Amino acid sequence: MKYGHLFACILLGMLIFPQHGDTSPRPDFAIPARMTGVASGSLDSTGNVVQNTNRILALLDQFQSITETLYRLQTPDLYRLATGFRLVLDSLVESGSPIFQALSNAARLSSGNITTVFDGIRRSINATIALNELHQSVINGTGLLLGSAGVRNISIVLDQLVRNVANLSTTLDEIEPTLVELQQLSRPSQSVVDSQYPRNGIRKLNGILLDYVNIGQSTVPQINAVVNRIRMMDGFIARLASVTSGLQNYLNSSLIAVNGSVYSGVQQRLQTSIRTIRTNFNASVTATTRKLKLFFLDDLDTVRTVARNASGLLVQRLTNVTQSLDELVNRTTVRMEGRESEWVMNRTIAAVSGLAWRLALTVTSSVPGADTCFARYNYEFDKLPRLIYGTLSSCGQQEVRTLQSVASALAAYLGVVQAQLDAETNQYNQCLSGVVPSSSDELRLQRAVCLQGAERISDIWGGTVVDNQLSAFEGLMHDEVNYSAERHHQCVRTSDQLMIAEVKNLWSAIASCLH
Ligand SMILES: *[C@@H]1O[C@H](CO)[C@@H](O)[C@H](O)[C@H]1NC(C)=O
Ligand SMILES: *[C@@H]1O[C@H](CO)[C@@H](O)[C@H](O)[C@H]1NC(C)=O
Ligand SMILES: *[C@@H]1O[C@H](CO)[C@@H](O)[C@H](O)[C@H]1NC(C)=O
Ligand SMILES: *[C@@H]1O[C@H](CO)[C@@H](O)[C@H](O)[C@H]1NC(C)=O
Ligand SMILES: *[C@@H]1O[C@H](CO)[C@@H](O)[C@H](O)[C@H]1NC(C)=O
Ligand SMILES: *[C@@H]1O[C@H](CO)[C@@H](O)[C@H](O)[C@H]1NC(C)=O
Ligand SMILES: *[C@@H]1O[C@H](CO)[C@@H](O)[C@H](O)[C@H]1NC(C)=O
Ligand SMILES: *[C@@H]1O[C@H](CO)[C@@H](O)[C@H](O)[C@H]1NC(C)=O
Ligand SMILES: *[C@@H]1O[C@H](CO)[C@@H](O)[C@H](O)[C@H]1NC(C)=O
Ligand SMILES: *[C@@H]1O[C@H](CO)[C@@H](O)[C@H](O)[C@H]1NC(C)=O
Ligand SMILES: *[C@@H]1O[C@H](CO)[C@@H](O)[C@H](O)[C@H]1NC(C)=O
Ligand SMILES: *[C@@H]1O[C@H](CO)[C@@H](O)[C@H](O)[C@H]1NC(C)=O
Repeated sequence: MKYGHLFACILLGMLIFPQHGDTSPRPDFAIPARMTGVASGSLDSTGNVVQNTNRILALLDQFQSITETLYRLQTPDLYRLATGFRLVLDSLVESGSPIFQALSNAARLSSGNITTVFDGIRRSINATIALNELHQSVINGTGLLLGSAGVRNISIVLDQLVRNVANLSTTLDEIEPTLVELQQLSRPSQSVVDSQYPRNGIRKLNGILLDYVNIGQSTVPQINAVVNRIRMMDGFIARLASVTSGLQNYLNSSLIAVNGSVYSGVQQRLQTSIRTIRTNFNASVTATTRKLKLFFLDDLDTVRTVARNASGLLVQRLTNVTQSLDELVNRTTVRMEGRESEWVMNRTIAAVSGLAWRLALTVTSSVPGADTCFARYNYEFDKLPRLIYGTLSSCGQQEVRTLQSVASALAAYLGVVQAQLDAETNQYNQCLSGVVPSSSDELRLQRAVCLQGAERISDIWGGTVVDNQLSAFEGLMHDEVNYSAERHHQCVRTSDQLMIAEVKNLWSAIASCLH
């Protein structure tokens, strides 16, 4: 199978190249290839067309592979800024390649219409020349990234290259007629070819091609340097973005944790204390009314009425106190505002990123000393948001601790309310202690009088005292919550001022490093 295939290929080869080994000259630019120097590169020191165009094509490949790395930038803003530079280099390669590829092909081909091939090359050259204006204005637009010196450098190179290909066009015009003439000779002898060959024109052509190579090669380090600086800044900005977004997440978690601590350690704790008062009061009222119920059918009118009246009053007190406490529970909310911390963190990130961009652009535009200053200061950019994050989260922690001790004080205050309510039911219990339905009439009547006294206390000032205590508690709570908010606000504001000072310090350190 393999041999059959090979055999078929050989047969095919023989069919396609029937005159192989023929004496007819093999043209280069439709010129005999054997002509000294044309293909071997020894025409003179300028080498030959194929060799030189290949050098240019390799150079364009090099441009391409350098700029390709710009497609992999991680920072969208930098990617956008670098787009103009990348587009121009891409376009330089895309418009240049066809010229040199066609020239290389033309120099190697042994057949074809020189006029047609050269017209194609000239069209490509014209297109390249026409693009220069666009390239210049796009490069001019990259001043922010490359700096005016960088723009000027690239701009000069672009002009040199365009003048070079324009000269190429002129030289093609010069050599074309002679090449056409040679091509039109039928079976020219080697000596005729040698004598008519446009040596000077070809030498000039090679000279121009070599110029292109030289201009291009001396630009490679410059372009490399620009691209490397852009990539280094891409790494810097991306690293900073990752640090700051990590800190933003930590701050978010920290604020959620603070909210959680405030919620459970302060708000829920106070609410639970208030609910406990309600439950305790309910329990003691229930126990007391159960005892009073024993006298609901007492044979003494007074005892019966007073017992029912006292029980009714206590149930009403329970309803009212329960209502007040429930409402108080609903109004017991302690929040720690996290938005301000988040805002300061956002401002920090914005300020640090702004500075980082300024530094990055001094590096990409090769401001003298920028590389050194970047090396010296770039880690300060990560430290600053870490510092502010630290102060903001400690503001939160500190406030949680303060609020927890405030909550202890407030819970203790609620003990006063509890004691007051206990005292109120105790008034009734004292009257009821040691008396049963079978006790003497005298004792029962005496205790009825006692219960009336207890009722008066409930009626006249029981409600008022408890209400006052509850509203005093609420006032204290609101004051503490407001103080806490104010303290936290001051702490956050101090972080903000620290940030502003640190940002100023950092920038003035960098600015003095740059000068
Ligand atoms: C080459 O093409 C041009 C037009 O493109 C034509 O005028 C000329 O005769 C052609 N030359 C040969 C040798 O075919
Ligand atoms: C290239 O441009 C020149 C001048 O603008 C013009 O004379 C020439 O015909 C153009 N050549 C081609 C192949 O378009
Ligand atoms: C380059 O841009 C500057 C302003 O950014 C403008 O003044 C100048 O004319 C532009 N030059 C070219 C060649 O576009
Ligand atoms: C401009 O080019 C020169 C040499 O060609 C180089 O030394 C200089 O650093 C370049 N400037 C910029 C900003 O790229
Ligand atoms: C282009 O040709 C002109 C004269 O023909 C010459 O002065 C100039 O140096 C050449 N430029 C390049 C880049 O080859
Ligand atoms: C904070 O974290 C929570 C849950 O992890 C998330 O739902 C919320 O969007 C985050 N907020 C911010 C501002 O990142
Ligand atoms: C604070 O925590 C409580 C309870 O977990 C929750 O209902 C509330 O939405 C949280 N507030 C914020 C701003 O995260
Ligand atoms: C008092 O407690 C009992 C039993 O726990 C309950 O059924 C009743 O609703 C409570 N009374 C008030 C006013 O909350
Ligand atoms: C309790 O007695 C007083 C008079 O002593 C009376 O005005 C009041 O309506 C009575 N309350 C109940 C709940 O029976
Ligand atoms: C209960 O509350 C109502 C309305 O707030 C009030 O009129 C009544 O006197 C209260 N009763 C007691 C026993 O506190
Ligand atoms: C307390 O708030 C809850 C939910 O917001 C509501 O259902 C309830 O009626 C409120 N209670 C009082 C006493 O206001
Ligand atoms: C902070 O920035 C984040 C993301 O950039 C945004 O979601 C949030 O709303 C900002 N917070 C404040 C308080 O500005």
